[in-house]
Amino acid sequence: MRVLLLGAAGGIGSAIREGLAGRYTLMRLADIAPLSAPGQGEETVRVDLLDLDGLAAAMAGIDCVVHMAGVPVEPETNAWEQVLPANIVGVHNLFEAARLAGIKRVLFASSHHAAGFHRRETPTAETLVPRPDSYYGVSKVFGEAMGRMYADKFGLQVLSLRIGAYRERPSDPRQLAVWISPRDMVELVRCGVEAPDFGYATVYGVSANTRTFWDNSAVAFLGYQPRDNAEAWAAEIMAGPPEAPAAAPFQGGGYCAKGFVGDLGRVD
Ligand SMILES: NC(=O)c1ccc[n+]([C@@H]2O[C@H](COP(=O)([O-])OP(=O)(O)OC[C@H]3O[C@@H](n4cnc5c(N)ncnc54)[C@H](O)[C@@H]3O)[C@@H](O)[C@H]2O)c1
Repeated sequence: MRVLLLGAAGGIGSAIREGLAGRYTLMRLADIAPLSAPGQGEETVRVDLLDLDGLAAAMAGIDCVVHMAGVPVEPETNAWEQVLPANIVGVHNLFEAARLAGIKRVLFASSHHAAGFHRRETPTAETLVPRPDSYYGVSKVFGEAMGRMYADKFGLQVLSLRIGAYRERPSDPRQLAVWISPRDMVELVRCGVEAPDFGYATVYGVSANTRTFWDNSAVAFLGYQPRDNAEAWAAEIMAGPPEAPAAAPFQGGGYCAKGFVGDLGRVD
């Protein structure tokens, strides 16, 4: 198995690099930012998501691409202008380069913000319908749609991981539901890389949290069994400040509350 890890210099990318070191024939690490020297079984390559040819070259000889590169939040200012290059143009380039390079499988780092305006009690199957809470969330809907289209039209295997909140530990009430620990994140990616053939799937990337919003039984085919539970921090966190009124009903929390002038009572 030869894996290309895009965004290898980032927070999640670094954890995957460390957690899966030595597991595959090749782990090619790619980022626009500098990377530390390659270890055994590793290669490093400087790549910009805006460079389609460079991306395709980085994918030569690769079986599976793990895409963890891009803008990972809703930027405080000029959100659309900042999200557009890496998360829209770059994600088009990701899938097109994968097609050109004959890649078999792509893991796409989506986000639960692709569906953040769903209410917390919404059944998981319904949350698969996009309901983004930000331009960032819209970019993740775009990435999931690109993955679906490239799976249907070009036969790529694509797994969209709707990652919750990746942290060492949860730090607010909502994260008691959406947290994913570093070791569970690495395990989810390992399962995605190694699972038997599939077509397309969107799954939530979340630890085994008691308060989770999501029934993650859709990940059964991956064999992912999370080990961590945010509940270990519940007493401490629930003794702290409550969530804002416009954040508390929605899965996306603060991303929904930011700039919110909608009708909190409206249900559709
Ligand atoms: N961290 C979370 O809680 C979380 C939650 C949901 C989804 N995600 C998604 O997971 C992925 C990784 O998140 P992270 O927290 O590790 O982010 P990060 O910012 O730490 O890492 C992203 C990496 O992408 C690289 N990058 C940015 N633009 C690039 C470009 N044009 N070309 C090549 N590389 C580029 C950066 O240099 C960086 O190393 C992102 O797609 C993010 O949206 C993260």
